[in-house]
Amino acid sequence: MEKELLKFITCGSVDDGKSTLIGHLLYDAKLIFADQERALELDSKVGATGGQIDYSLLLDGLMAEREQGITIDVAYRYFSTEKRSFIVADTPGHEEYTRNMAVGASFADLAVILVDAEKGVLPQTRRHTRICGLMGIRYFVFAVNKMDLVGYDKKTFDQIRKAIRSLMAEFEYEEVTILPVSATVGDNVTEPSKNMYWYQGRPLLSVLERSNAGSQSRSETDVFTMSVQRVCRPDHTFRGFQGQISTGRLSVGDQICVLPGMQQAGVSELYMTNEKREQVSAGEPVTICLDREIDVSRGDVLIKVSGGNKETQDGAADDQEIAGIHVTDTIDVNLLWMDEQPLVCGRNYHLQLASSLVPVTVTRIHYGVDVNTGEHTQQENAVCNDLVNCRLHTGNPIAVSLFERNKDMGAFIMIDRVTHATSACGTVQKIHSQGSNIFWQELDISREMRENALGQKAKTIWFTGLSGSGKSTIANVLEKKLHAMGCHTMLLDGDNIRMGLCKDLGFTESDRVENIRRIAEVAHLMNEAGLIVLCSFISPIARDRKNARSIIGEDFVEVFVDTPLEECERRDVKGLYKKARAGKIPNFTGISSPFEAPKSPEIHVKTMEEEPSACADRILAFLKQKEESENAR
Ligand code: ADX
Repeated sequence: MEKELLKFITCGSVDDGKSTLIGHLLYDAKLIFADQERALELDSKVGATGGQIDYSLLLDGLMAEREQGITIDVAYRYFSTEKRSFIVADTPGHEEYTRNMAVGASFADLAVILVDAEKGVLPQTRRHTRICGLMGIRYFVFAVNKMDLVGYDKKTFDQIRKAIRSLMAEFEYEEVTILPVSATVGDNVTEPSKNMYWYQGRPLLSVLERSNAGSQSRSETDVFTMSVQRVCRPDHTFRGFQGQISTGRLSVGDQICVLPGMQQAGVSELYMTNEKREQVSAGEPVTICLDREIDVSRGDVLIKVSGGNKETQDGAADDQEIAGIHVTDTIDVNLLWMDEQPLVCGRNYHLQLASSLVPVTVTRIHYGVDVNTGEHTQQENAVCNDLVNCRLHTGNPIAVSLFERNKDMGAFIMIDRVTHATSACGTVQKIHSQGSNIFWQELDISREMRENALGQKAKTIWFTGLSGSGKSTIANVLEKKLHAMGCHTMLLDGDNIRMGLCKDLGFTESDRVENIRRIAEVAHLMNEAGLIVLCSFISPIARDRKNARSIIGEDFVEVFVDTPLEECERRDVKGLYKKARAGKIPNFTGISSPFEAPKSPEIHVKTMEEEPSACADRILAFLKQKEESENAR
């Protein structure tokens, strides 16, 4: 029989003797697996009975971290005893390493929290417990360490045990074990302690071997669910969907439904590695073949449905929910922000949940959570290590579950679109259904037909540059020239738009993100109407311009109006630089707020060297050339 795998995390601060404890455990248990490759093999084997390494496991959630070479300082160690196999995540204990602990905890089923017998329960003990709880750990072992230094005193241990019990009253858990140990001497690590005759419980290793953690998360009665990691198409005769089963069992002949598409099909064949199977179950990495062609891609979720099952049939049609998995684009989450760059509401990130990767924005922060006390705080931003409850909006509907119901489908990470660093990890707390009740309406008159009626090709010419750089002047000259040529145009200008559509926005980072997003959406609509749109906005941040480009599409032409700050300040047409220098305008671009110059704009104009009219002519020439090369294609 395969040995069951337990993934656990150790939490404690530097001096708590964490490394000594793990070292001792590994040494006594005769460490077998020392490297990652072997561990993967172990992980695959434990999940199944095959023998081959399933590298796709590497791509699972946070495991992908290491693939991307992102430095998250978590050491994974692998060992095995006769009764059980283990993977332990060892994370640094300093406060600034909260994120490392969260990453470690997200993968673990059980936490071993070290408490120094000389110091007792500390604020950090509460913090560690809270982070583990947030990441879904429900099994806790408190190792009260350094008992040798308190003379193996039962009273001291009893007091600490009481304090831990009252601490745990704040948390939800399945199992809590509290035991006195000495990592250096080896008391109650793998063998019962001879120095603490008064303690009748098991030593740590035996507690870990016998814990229910890791076995109950994959309940036998659960409905089959699996996130598709890969569509396997070796040739035109075979099409299989691969992934690791999250919950439940699946047999040949069963009906499955695909989320978010909601199409159904029957299961024709099942494989575990190369072996054909009649039935597969939770934890196993499998390949599933269906009896008819339906649209399934990476990130989709397969769920078993049964013919007469009211919940799965009617429920699915009504609110797109099956077996606790919903299709939605709006969720409330607990988020641990891990990026050195602060979270900006409205900015686009990537969300990776199970195997799906979609664009996402944080639309609202509801509150922050003090990790030491659990108190809610009012905050509008989040900086590194902040824990916040907020609303997320995804670019496309995805299949999600409440974290408490399905750990695989309810935990996620957020990735920065530019740096590809992991910005946050979190858990789904609430699912909103409004997004799934909105459907794109197909229209009969297309953009192309509107363009033809106007006799032109729609596009957006996006001017970016400092205030006073000459954006509006050049845009204005260009529009006059286009107008004279009989083109149908519209000019959207920063100050003007801020008097109407964006009157509610200021100049904070998140307000600017929203400003640019709205302008881009408006420009896109006007392009759909067939118009040539000129946008003149400082748009100081590269990723926000990139977002505008992705909203508008390929007919986006970026013009960098390059004027040195000193020159803009010398011109100071609106007198704003003077005011900003006097500290009267906060967040003024170039003075107290950054401007990220475009690295590769389609057109780069230098106003110190060219007159506005010459700049406009150069843009016209570019547009003409672009159109000619497009027509030639
Ligand atoms: S953007 O940064 O969000 O793209 P936008 O182009 O809409 O800015 O508006 C810029 C105009 O607002 C400037 O030309 C200037 O007249 C005015 N303004 C007022 N306050 C600021 C500020 N703090 N920073 C930059 N521009 C400001």
